[in-house]
Parts: sequence; C-alpha cells; structure tokens
Amino acid sequence: MNFEMVMALSNALDARDKYTAGHSRRVMEYSIGIAKHLKLSGDDIGRLKMSALLHDIGKIGISDVILHKESGISDKEFAVIKKHPEIGTNILKAVGSFKDLVPVVYHHHERFDGLGYPQGIYGEQIPLYARIIAIADSFDAMTSTRPYRKALNIENALMEIELNGGKQFDPSISHVFTDRFVDIFDEAYRNIEPEYSI
Ligand SMILES: [Fe+2]
Repeated sequence: MNFEMVMALSNALDARDKYTAGHSRRVMEYSIGIAKHLKLSGDDIGRLKMSALLHDIGKIGISDVILHKESGISDKEFAVIKKHPEIGTNILKAVGSFKDLVPVVYHHHERFDGLGYPQGIYGEQIPLYARIIAIADSFDAMTSTRPYRKALNIENALMEIELNGGKQFDPSISHVFTDRFVDIFDEAYRNIEPEYSI
C-alpha cells in the first residue's frame, strides 16, 4: 500500500513535464543496483527505494516558470530551486511511516566535499542513502535531455561520476557505480521496460 502510494506521488511529480518523465523511477532502479553491490539488506533497500522515488517531491512546491526555464537561471531563481529538499521534508514529515526517509530527502544535494546544500555537511555525515541517490540522480540527469542542453552519452556521464568521486560523490560508491555499471544498467532496464512497452 505505502509503496504504491509513493509510486503514484512520484509519477505525479515526473508527469509535470516531458523532461523529467520517468526520472524518479530510473533514480530508484540505479539506486537499488548500487545498493545490491554494496550488499545492503532487504529492509535497507526497501527504504532506499521509497527515498529515491520521493527525493525531488519538494519540486511540487516550485513554480513551473522557474523549473521549466530554458536558459539563464538567475541566482535568485536558483535559490528558489534549492529550497526543494526542505519543501520535500515538510511534505513527508507529516507522514509517520516516512520518518526514516526525511533525512535522505533533505540531504540529497549535499556533496561529499561539503560544498552542497542545504547544510553543507560532508563525507559520512551525509546519510548513506542520500550519497547513493546523489549518484543515481546525477547520472540520470546527465544522460537525459533537458530544456537547456542535450543528453550526455553514457561513457562521458560515467567519466564525470568517476572524476567527481571525493568531490561531489562518495568515491567508494561512485566507483561501485562505474565498475558495475553494465549489471546495474541492464537490470534497471529489465525492470522498467516491460511497464513501458506496448
Ligand atoms: Fe533534487
């Protein structure tokens, strides 16, 4: 029941525009793939799935005009976008059973080197699921076309993930993602495609 509700919520968010269609679902699949290679438990993977589906739920509270801007986002507009982890936290904390997901949604834009937001925490201070989702999220964003740029090819996106280990990402997790990418990607698409094929 909970999982289906979460899926419906994340579909509602992704349906807002063609650029993000399926984003949360792909972030979930890549995150599960990483988690399996990190040998996380079934319970952990269950919580990670929900967090991944809901990571950007706070974008529901950000105006379309800013979110769909084709170019030149101003500092002021970026400051508004940066509020989505906090908005997401406020949405989810109303639901008791989502208690464990709240810190993950709140911290999914932190960076391993401490230069992220909203708190600028670093290293293992960042919840593990948030460190996993950060990589899955960036990979999917890089390999998807957005209003302001074309998709990067997979090789270049993987290189970015590897090069950013220790900077934006937890280096041991970015290494797992790039090292086991073929397995992770294959399994993700095996799970996704049957639902989208006619
Ligand atoms: Fe986000």
